[in-house]
Amino acid sequence: MAHTHELPKMMKALVLKSTSEPPTVEIVPTPRPTVGSAVVRILAANVVSYMKNIYNGERNYAFPTPIIPGTSAIARVAAIGPDATKLQIGDLVFLDSLVRSRDEPSDAFLAAINQGGTPGSAKLMRDVFRDWSYAEYCLAPLENLTRIDERRITGAPDSGGLGLTVQDLAYISALLVPYGGLKDIELQAGQTVTVCPATGPFGGAAVIVALAMGARVIAMGRNKDSLARLKKVVPHAERVHIVPITGDMQADCTELKKYGEIDAYFDIGPPEAQGSTHIHSAILALRQGGRVSLMGGYLQDVPIPHRVIMRRNLRLYGKWMYERSDVADIFKLLETGVLKLGAQAGAELVGEYPLEQWKEAWDAAWENALMGQYVLIKP
Ligand SMILES: NC(=O)c1ccc[n+]([C@@H]2O[C@H](COP(=O)([O-])OP(=O)(O)OC[C@H]3O[C@@H](n4cnc5c(N)ncnc54)[C@H](OP(=O)(O)O)[C@@H]3O)[C@@H](O)[C@H]2O)c1
Repeated sequence: MAHTHELPKMMKALVLKSTSEPPTVEIVPTPRPTVGSAVVRILAANVVSYMKNIYNGERNYAFPTPIIPGTSAIARVAAIGPDATKLQIGDLVFLDSLVRSRDEPSDAFLAAINQGGTPGSAKLMRDVFRDWSYAEYCLAPLENLTRIDERRITGAPDSGGLGLTVQDLAYISALLVPYGGLKDIELQAGQTVTVCPATGPFGGAAVIVALAMGARVIAMGRNKDSLARLKKVVPHAERVHIVPITGDMQADCTELKKYGEIDAYFDIGPPEAQGSTHIHSAILALRQGGRVSLMGGYLQDVPIPHRVIMRRNLRLYGKWMYERSDVADIFKLLETGVLKLGAQAGAELVGEYPLEQWKEAWDAAWENALMGQYVLIKP
Protein backbone atom coordinates (compact mmCIF):
# COMPACT_ATOMS: atom_id res chain seq x y z
CA MET A 1 0.00 0.00 0.00
CA ALA A 2 1.10 3.56 -0.60
CA HIS A 3 2.25 5.45 2.44
CA THR A 4 -0.01 8.45 2.36
CA HIS A 5 -0.59 9.08 6.06
CA GLU A 6 1.98 11.89 6.25
CA LEU A 7 0.51 13.93 3.42
CA PRO A 8 -1.69 16.91 4.22
CA LYS A 9 -5.07 16.88 2.47
CA MET A 10 -4.50 20.27 0.84
CA MET A 11 -1.43 22.17 -0.34
CA LYS A 12 -0.36 25.51 -1.72
CA ALA A 13 0.33 25.67 -5.46
CA LEU A 14 0.74 28.11 -8.31
CA VAL A 15 -2.09 27.57 -10.77
CA LEU A 16 -2.12 28.79 -14.37
CA LYS A 17 -5.61 28.75 -15.86
CA SER A 18 -4.61 30.11 -19.27
CA THR A 19 -1.67 31.88 -20.91
CA SER A 20 -3.76 35.03 -21.23
CA GLU A 21 -4.02 35.61 -17.47
CA PRO A 22 -1.39 35.58 -14.72
CA PRO A 23 -1.14 32.50 -12.47
CA THR A 24 -2.49 32.60 -8.92
CA VAL A 25 -1.45 30.92 -5.68
CA GLU A 26 -4.24 28.58 -4.60
CA ILE A 27 -5.01 25.87 -2.09
CA VAL A 28 -5.57 22.62 -3.96
CA PRO A 29 -5.77 18.91 -3.05
CA THR A 30 -2.38 17.28 -2.42
CA PRO A 31 -1.69 14.54 -4.99
CA ARG A 32 -1.62 10.93 -3.81
CA PRO A 33 0.94 8.35 -5.04
CA THR A 34 -0.14 5.50 -7.30
CA VAL A 35 1.63 2.37 -8.54
CA GLY A 36 4.77 3.64 -10.32
CA SER A 37 4.85 7.10 -8.79
CA ALA A 38 5.78 9.05 -5.69
CA VAL A 39 4.76 12.34 -4.15
CA VAL A 40 7.65 14.62 -3.26
CA ARG A 41 7.90 17.72 -1.09
CA ILE A 42 9.53 20.41 -3.25
CA LEU A 43 12.51 22.11 -1.59
CA ALA A 44 13.95 24.15 -4.47
CA ALA A 45 12.44 24.33 -7.95
CA ASN A 46 14.36 25.64 -10.96
CA VAL A 47 13.30 28.58 -13.12
CA VAL A 48 14.45 28.71 -16.75
CA SER A 49 15.46 32.10 -18.12
CA TYR A 50 12.52 32.28 -20.53
CA MET A 51 9.88 30.91 -18.10
CA LYS A 52 7.74 34.04 -18.30
CA ASN A 53 7.58 33.70 -22.07
CA ILE A 54 6.43 30.11 -21.76
CA TYR A 55 3.56 30.94 -19.42
CA ASN A 56 2.45 34.17 -21.14
CA GLY A 57 2.19 32.23 -24.40
CA GLU A 58 4.96 34.12 -26.22
CA ARG A 59 7.02 30.97 -26.87
CA ASN A 60 3.89 29.22 -28.11
CA TYR A 61 4.70 26.00 -26.23
CA ALA A 62 1.80 23.56 -26.16
CA PHE A 63 0.53 22.36 -22.77
CA PRO A 64 -2.89 21.72 -21.23
CA THR A 65 -4.52 24.16 -18.80
CA PRO A 66 -5.23 24.57 -15.97
CA ILE A 67 -1.76 23.50 -14.90
CA ILE A 68 0.62 23.80 -11.97
CA PRO A 69 3.77 25.15 -13.69
CA GLY A 70 7.36 24.22 -12.86
CA THR A 71 10.38 22.28 -14.01
CA SER A 72 13.17 20.25 -12.35
CA ALA A 73 13.65 20.49 -8.60
CA ILE A 74 15.38 19.16 -5.53
CA ALA A 75 12.81 17.50 -3.30
CA ARG A 76 12.18 15.00 -0.52
CA VAL A 77 10.11 11.86 -0.96
CA ALA A 78 6.90 12.33 1.04
CA ALA A 79 4.85 9.29 -0.06
CA ILE A 80 5.62 6.40 -2.40
CA GLY A 81 3.70 3.94 -4.53
CA PRO A 82 3.81 0.30 -3.41
CA ASP A 83 6.19 -0.82 -6.17
CA ALA A 84 9.19 1.37 -5.29
CA THR A 85 12.16 -0.86 -4.38
CA LYS A 86 14.85 1.72 -3.72
CA LEU A 87 13.30 5.02 -2.81
CA GLN A 88 12.18 5.59 0.75
CA ILE A 89 10.17 8.26 2.45
CA GLY A 90 12.51 11.06 3.48
CA ASP A 91 15.04 10.49 0.68
CA LEU A 92 16.53 13.61 -0.87
CA VAL A 93 15.97 13.40 -4.65
CA PHE A 94 16.51 15.19 -7.91
CA LEU A 95 13.17 15.58 -9.67
CA ASP A 96 13.77 15.29 -13.41
CA SER A 97 11.17 17.08 -15.52
CA LEU A 98 11.64 14.94 -18.65
CA VAL A 99 8.75 12.46 -18.46
CA ARG A 100 8.68 9.39 -20.72
CA SER A 101 5.90 6.95 -21.38
CA ARG A 102 6.63 3.48 -20.00
CA ASP A 103 5.26 1.49 -22.90
CA GLU A 104 6.61 3.91 -25.55
CA PRO A 105 9.61 5.92 -24.25
CA SER A 106 9.70 8.08 -27.40
CA ASP A 107 6.45 9.61 -26.12
CA ALA A 108 8.32 12.14 -23.99
CA PHE A 109 7.48 15.61 -22.72
CA LEU A 110 8.83 18.38 -20.53
CA ALA A 111 6.65 18.43 -17.45
CA ALA A 112 4.49 21.57 -17.20
CA ILE A 113 6.41 23.18 -20.08
CA ASN A 114 5.79 21.40 -23.35
CA GLN A 115 3.57 18.44 -24.14
CA GLY A 116 6.12 16.96 -26.58
CA GLY A 117 5.66 16.01 -30.19
CA THR A 118 3.39 12.95 -30.21
CA PRO A 119 -0.26 12.24 -29.40
CA GLY A 120 1.02 9.83 -26.73
CA SER A 121 3.16 12.44 -24.97
CA ALA A 122 0.27 14.93 -25.04
CA LYS A 123 -2.06 12.30 -23.56
CA LEU A 124 0.35 11.36 -20.78
CA MET A 125 0.80 15.00 -19.83
CA ARG A 126 -2.89 15.86 -20.00
CA ASP A 127 -4.22 12.82 -18.16
CA VAL A 128 -1.55 11.83 -15.64
CA PHE A 129 1.56 13.96 -15.03
CA ARG A 130 0.12 17.39 -15.73
CA ASP A 131 1.03 19.39 -12.63
CA TRP A 132 4.60 19.94 -11.54
CA SER A 133 6.97 21.64 -9.13
CA TYR A 134 5.65 25.13 -8.31
CA ALA A 135 3.68 23.62 -5.45
CA GLU A 136 4.40 22.24 -2.02
CA TYR A 137 4.02 18.69 -3.34
CA CYS A 138 4.34 17.07 -6.75
CA LEU A 139 3.35 13.68 -8.14
CA ALA A 140 6.16 12.19 -10.27
CA PRO A 141 6.98 8.90 -11.98
CA LEU A 142 9.38 6.87 -9.80
CA GLU A 143 11.99 6.85 -12.55
CA ASN A 144 12.05 10.66 -12.57
CA LEU A 145 13.43 10.65 -9.05
CA THR A 146 17.17 10.19 -8.56
CA ARG A 147 18.16 9.45 -4.99
CA ILE A 148 20.89 11.79 -3.75
CA ASP A 149 23.56 10.28 -1.48
CA GLU A 150 23.21 12.78 1.35
CA ARG A 151 26.20 11.52 3.33
CA ARG A 152 28.49 12.23 0.38
CA ILE A 153 26.80 15.18 -1.31
CA THR A 154 25.44 17.32 1.50
CA GLY A 155 27.54 15.84 4.31
CA ALA A 156 30.18 17.91 6.10
CA PRO A 157 33.63 17.92 4.43
CA ASP A 158 35.34 16.75 7.66
CA SER A 159 33.33 13.52 7.48
CA GLY A 160 33.90 12.85 3.79
CA GLY A 161 31.05 14.94 2.42
CA LEU A 162 31.10 17.59 -0.26
CA GLY A 163 29.18 20.06 1.90
CA LEU A 164 26.80 21.09 -0.88
CA THR A 165 23.48 22.74 -0.07
CA VAL A 166 20.07 22.04 -1.62
CA GLN A 167 20.45 25.36 -3.43
CA ASP A 168 23.85 24.34 -4.85
CA LEU A 169 22.38 21.02 -5.97
CA ALA A 170 19.55 22.63 -7.90
CA TYR A 171 22.06 23.88 -10.50
CA ILE A 172 22.50 20.28 -11.69
CA SER A 173 19.42 20.61 -13.92
CA ALA A 174 21.16 23.26 -16.07
CA LEU A 175 24.28 21.10 -16.36
CA LEU A 176 22.31 18.00 -17.26
CA VAL A 177 21.00 19.47 -20.54
CA PRO A 178 24.38 20.03 -22.26
CA TYR A 179 25.71 16.85 -20.64
CA GLY A 180 23.14 15.00 -22.76
CA GLY A 181 24.59 16.44 -25.98
CA LEU A 182 28.26 16.22 -24.98
CA LYS A 183 27.89 12.59 -23.96
CA ASP A 184 25.97 11.88 -27.15
CA ILE A 185 28.98 12.99 -29.25
CA GLU A 186 31.29 11.03 -26.94
CA LEU A 187 33.42 13.96 -25.88
CA GLN A 188 36.60 12.56 -24.34
CA ALA A 189 39.08 13.95 -21.81
CA GLY A 190 41.87 15.67 -23.70
CA GLN A 191 39.70 16.61 -26.68
CA THR A 192 38.81 20.12 -27.76
CA VAL A 193 35.24 21.32 -28.18
CA THR A 194 33.90 24.62 -29.47
CA VAL A 195 30.86 25.70 -27.44
CA CYS A 196 28.63 28.32 -29.03
CA PRO A 197 26.96 30.42 -27.85
CA ALA A 198 28.79 29.90 -24.56
CA THR A 199 27.44 32.88 -22.67
CA GLY A 200 23.78 31.91 -22.00
CA PRO A 201 22.55 29.75 -19.10
CA PHE A 202 22.68 26.44 -21.02
CA GLY A 203 25.65 27.44 -23.18
CA GLY A 204 27.61 28.40 -20.07
CA ALA A 205 26.58 25.15 -18.42
CA ALA A 206 28.03 23.34 -21.45
CA VAL A 207 31.40 24.98 -20.79
CA ILE A 208 31.34 23.85 -17.15
CA VAL A 209 30.38 20.28 -18.07
CA ALA A 210 32.88 19.95 -20.93
CA LEU A 211 35.67 21.11 -18.61
CA ALA A 212 34.57 18.62 -15.94
CA MET A 213 34.65 15.90 -18.62
CA GLY A 214 38.32 16.76 -19.14
CA ALA A 215 38.02 18.63 -22.42
CA ARG A 216 39.57 21.87 -23.61
CA VAL A 217 36.91 24.44 -24.52
CA ILE A 218 36.79 27.19 -27.07
CA ALA A 219 33.98 29.46 -25.93
CA MET A 220 32.29 31.64 -28.56
CA GLY A 221 29.79 34.46 -28.11
CA ARG A 222 29.06 37.95 -29.33
CA ASN A 223 29.44 39.77 -26.06
CA LYS A 224 33.07 40.29 -25.07
CA ASP A 225 32.19 41.28 -21.48
CA SER A 226 30.21 38.06 -20.99
CA LEU A 227 33.09 36.06 -22.46
CA ALA A 228 35.59 37.76 -20.14
CA ARG A 229 33.30 37.06 -17.16
CA LEU A 230 33.03 33.41 -18.21
CA LYS A 231 36.81 33.03 -18.27
CA LYS A 232 37.00 34.65 -14.83
CA VAL A 233 34.42 32.53 -12.99
CA VAL A 234 34.69 29.10 -14.59
CA PRO A 235 36.84 26.41 -12.94
CA HIS A 236 39.82 25.14 -15.02
CA ALA A 237 39.93 28.47 -16.88
CA GLU A 238 43.38 27.48 -18.10
CA ARG A 239 41.61 25.06 -20.46
CA VAL A 240 39.31 27.77 -21.87
CA HIS A 241 40.02 29.86 -24.95
CA ILE A 242 37.79 32.70 -26.08
CA VAL A 243 36.83 33.44 -29.68
CA PRO A 244 34.29 36.24 -30.11
CA ILE A 245 31.70 36.03 -32.89
CA THR A 246 32.52 39.03 -35.10
CA GLY A 247 30.05 38.25 -37.88
CA ASP A 248 32.95 37.58 -40.29
CA MET A 249 32.52 33.85 -40.80
CA GLN A 250 35.91 33.21 -42.40
CA ALA A 251 37.87 35.35 -39.93
CA ASP A 252 36.22 33.62 -36.95
CA CYS A 253 37.01 30.22 -38.47
CA THR A 254 40.68 31.23 -38.85
CA GLU A 255 40.69 32.42 -35.24
CA LEU A 256 39.29 29.07 -34.05
CA LYS A 257 41.91 27.13 -36.00
CA LYS A 258 44.70 28.99 -34.20
CA TYR A 259 43.99 26.73 -31.23
CA GLY A 260 44.89 23.60 -33.16
CA GLU A 261 42.75 20.52 -33.85
CA ILE A 262 39.12 20.85 -32.81
CA ASP A 263 37.37 17.53 -32.23
CA ALA A 264 33.81 18.67 -31.67
CA TYR A 265 31.38 21.56 -31.84
CA PHE A 266 28.49 21.90 -29.42
CA ASP A 267 25.75 24.28 -30.57
CA ILE A 268 23.04 25.62 -28.27
CA GLY A 269 21.86 28.81 -29.92
CA PRO A 270 18.46 30.35 -29.08
CA PRO A 271 15.91 31.12 -31.83
CA GLU A 272 17.34 34.67 -32.04
CA ALA A 273 20.71 33.29 -33.24
CA GLN A 274 19.06 31.68 -36.28
CA GLY A 275 21.19 33.45 -38.91
CA SER A 276 24.40 33.73 -36.88
CA THR A 277 27.69 33.14 -38.73
CA HIS A 278 29.05 30.99 -35.87
CA ILE A 279 27.39 27.81 -37.15
CA HIS A 280 29.47 27.85 -40.33
CA SER A 281 32.70 29.03 -38.73
CA ALA A 282 32.52 26.36 -36.02
CA ILE A 283 31.75 23.52 -38.45
CA LEU A 284 34.44 24.64 -40.92
CA ALA A 285 37.07 24.72 -38.15
CA LEU A 286 36.54 21.04 -37.23
CA ARG A 287 39.18 18.39 -37.86
CA GLN A 288 38.66 15.41 -40.16
CA GLY A 289 36.05 13.15 -38.55
CA GLY A 290 34.87 15.83 -36.10
CA ARG A 291 31.45 15.68 -34.42
CA VAL A 292 28.71 18.27 -34.04
CA SER A 293 26.02 18.27 -31.36
CA LEU A 294 23.00 20.31 -32.39
CA MET A 295 21.00 21.35 -29.33
CA GLY A 296 20.00 24.84 -30.45
CA GLY A 297 16.41 26.00 -30.41
CA TYR A 298 16.32 27.32 -34.00
CA LEU A 299 12.82 27.42 -35.40
CA GLN A 300 13.77 27.58 -39.10
CA ASP A 301 16.05 25.37 -41.19
CA VAL A 302 19.75 26.11 -40.79
CA PRO A 303 22.02 26.00 -43.90
CA ILE A 304 25.06 23.74 -43.48
CA PRO A 305 28.40 23.55 -45.36
CA HIS A 306 27.49 20.26 -47.00
CA ARG A 307 30.63 19.81 -49.09
CA VAL A 308 32.97 20.18 -46.10
CA ILE A 309 30.79 17.89 -43.99
CA MET A 310 30.98 15.25 -46.72
CA ARG A 311 34.70 15.61 -47.51
CA ARG A 312 35.79 15.72 -43.88
CA ASN A 313 33.59 12.83 -42.72
CA LEU A 314 31.94 15.09 -40.15
CA ARG A 315 29.12 13.66 -38.06
CA LEU A 316 26.08 15.72 -37.05
CA TYR A 317 24.06 14.63 -34.03
CA GLY A 318 20.81 16.19 -32.87
CA LYS A 319 19.94 16.00 -29.19
CA TRP A 320 16.80 16.89 -27.34
CA MET A 321 17.61 17.00 -23.64
CA TYR A 322 19.34 13.78 -22.45
CA GLU A 323 18.92 10.08 -21.86
CA ARG A 324 17.68 8.67 -18.58
CA SER A 325 21.09 7.08 -17.94
CA ASP A 326 22.70 10.52 -18.24
CA VAL A 327 20.93 11.59 -15.03
CA ALA A 328 22.55 8.81 -13.01
CA ASP A 329 25.88 9.44 -14.74
CA ILE A 330 26.02 13.16 -14.00
CA PHE A 331 25.42 12.37 -10.32
CA LYS A 332 28.45 10.04 -10.47
CA LEU A 333 30.54 12.95 -11.78
CA LEU A 334 29.25 14.95 -8.85
CA GLU A 335 29.83 12.26 -6.23
CA THR A 336 33.42 11.69 -7.31
CA GLY A 337 34.07 15.43 -7.05
CA VAL A 338 34.97 15.78 -10.74
CA LEU A 339 31.98 18.02 -11.39
CA LYS A 340 31.72 20.98 -9.05
CA LEU A 341 28.66 22.96 -8.00
CA GLY A 342 28.11 26.29 -6.29
CA ALA A 343 30.70 29.06 -6.44
CA GLN A 344 33.39 26.45 -7.19
CA ALA A 345 31.61 25.74 -10.48
CA GLY A 346 31.13 29.36 -11.43
CA ALA A 347 27.44 29.12 -10.49
CA GLU A 348 25.66 32.06 -8.88
CA LEU A 349 22.27 31.79 -7.18
CA VAL A 350 20.63 35.09 -8.08
CA GLY A 351 17.63 34.66 -5.78
CA GLU A 352 15.24 32.24 -4.13
CA TYR A 353 11.56 33.20 -4.08
CA PRO A 354 8.38 31.91 -2.39
CA LEU A 355 5.43 30.88 -4.62
CA GLU A 356 3.75 34.23 -4.04
CA GLN A 357 6.72 35.96 -5.70
CA TRP A 358 6.54 33.91 -8.90
CA LYS A 359 6.66 37.08 -11.00
CA GLU A 360 9.81 38.36 -9.29
CA ALA A 361 11.37 34.91 -9.80
CA TRP A 362 10.57 34.78 -13.53
CA ASP A 363 11.75 38.38 -14.04
CA ALA A 364 14.97 37.70 -12.12
CA ALA A 365 15.66 34.65 -14.29
CA TRP A 366 15.03 36.67 -17.45
CA GLU A 367 17.22 39.56 -16.34
CA ASN A 368 20.07 37.43 -14.96
CA ALA A 369 20.76 34.95 -17.73
CA LEU A 370 24.53 34.95 -17.84
CA MET A 371 26.59 31.79 -17.64
CA GLY A 372 26.16 30.17 -14.21
CA GLN A 373 23.34 32.42 -12.99
CA TYR A 374 20.20 30.68 -11.73
CA VAL A 375 17.00 31.41 -9.86
CA LEU A 376 14.94 29.14 -7.58
CA ILE A 377 11.39 28.96 -6.28
CA LYS A 378 10.98 27.60 -2.75
CA PRO A 379 7.34 26.58 -2.31
N1 LIG B 1 18.06 20.75 -27.25
C1 LIG B 1 17.57 20.90 -26.05
O1 LIG B 1 17.16 19.93 -25.40
C2 LIG B 1 17.52 22.25 -25.43
C3 LIG B 1 17.35 22.36 -24.03
C4 LIG B 1 17.32 23.63 -23.45
C5 LIG B 1 17.45 24.76 -24.25
N2 LIG B 1 17.59 24.63 -25.60
C6 LIG B 1 17.73 25.81 -26.46
O2 LIG B 1 18.95 26.43 -26.17
C7 LIG B 1 18.81 27.83 -26.28
C8 LIG B 1 19.97 28.53 -25.57
O3 LIG B 1 19.79 28.48 -24.20
P1 LIG B 1 20.57 29.42 -23.17
O4 LIG B 1 19.82 29.31 -21.89
O5 LIG B 1 22.03 29.11 -23.16
O6 LIG B 1 20.50 30.86 -23.80
P2 LIG B 1 19.28 31.90 -24.00
O7 LIG B 1 19.11 32.67 -22.73
O8 LIG B 1 18.13 31.24 -24.61
O9 LIG B 1 19.98 32.85 -25.10
C9 LIG B 1 21.09 33.64 -24.77
C10 LIG B 1 22.34 33.14 -25.50
O10 LIG B 1 22.17 33.25 -26.90
C11 LIG B 1 23.14 34.10 -27.47
N3 LIG B 1 22.56 34.87 -28.55
C12 LIG B 1 21.40 35.58 -28.53
N4 LIG B 1 21.14 36.12 -29.73
C13 LIG B 1 22.17 35.75 -30.54
C14 LIG B 1 22.48 36.02 -31.89
N5 LIG B 1 21.69 36.76 -32.68
N6 LIG B 1 23.62 35.49 -32.40
C15 LIG B 1 24.43 34.73 -31.64
N7 LIG B 1 24.19 34.46 -30.33
C16 LIG B 1 23.08 34.97 -29.80
C17 LIG B 1 23.59 34.96 -26.30
O11 LIG B 1 24.87 35.38 -26.58
P3 LIG B 1 25.44 36.89 -26.32
O12 LIG B 1 26.22 36.79 -25.06
O13 LIG B 1 26.29 37.11 -27.51
O14 LIG B 1 24.25 37.80 -26.25
C18 LIG B 1 23.55 33.97 -25.16
O15 LIG B 1 24.68 33.13 -25.16
C19 LIG B 1 17.41 28.08 -25.73
O16 LIG B 1 16.87 29.27 -26.22
C20 LIG B 1 16.64 26.86 -26.21
O17 LIG B 1 15.97 27.13 -27.41
C21 LIG B 1 17.64 23.41 -26.19
